[in-house]
Amino acid sequence: MSIRIALSSDHAAIELRQAIARHLADQGFDVVDIGPTEPESTDYPKHGEAAARLVKSDDCQLGIVLCGTGQGIMMAANKVKGIRCGVCADVFSARMIRQHNDANMLSLGARVVGEGLALEIVDAFMNASFEGGRHTVRVKMIDALES
Ligand code: RB5
Repeated sequence: MSIRIALSSDHAAIELRQAIARHLADQGFDVVDIGPTEPESTDYPKHGEAAARLVKSDDCQLGIVLCGTGQGIMMAANKVKGIRCGVCADVFSARMIRQHNDANMLSLGARVVGEGLALEIVDAFMNASFEGGRHTVRVKMIDALES
């Protein structure tokens, strides 16, 4: 079964989000792009929450969210219980948030990274997997903060 991945952004990142959607679809991922598509200014928290809820509900296994910096939409996504979302502007961090932190969402800043780097970051995130072992207890400690 192919991995289902939720995508959302605010107005600042529509073009980059759509480029990522095409990139992932070309690789055979099942992309659930929930928009927006209109360029009007829109509030990033609701878009971060919407993608996070798809991941939380198991409708999607992973999520990618974007705004101008990647920061605000990441903060919103992380308020949904069970979500571990990190902002990445480099390939190493994108790999590590999956290997060590078992991140289930990635956040990108469309005003921070260009399309070429963003796609490499996405590939690093998608191709990495959680290493378990000593990292499991630490991720459980993060989850315990939610209860
Ligand atoms: C929108 O102007 C901007 O504030 C938003 O995209 C994001 O960068 C917030 O974190």
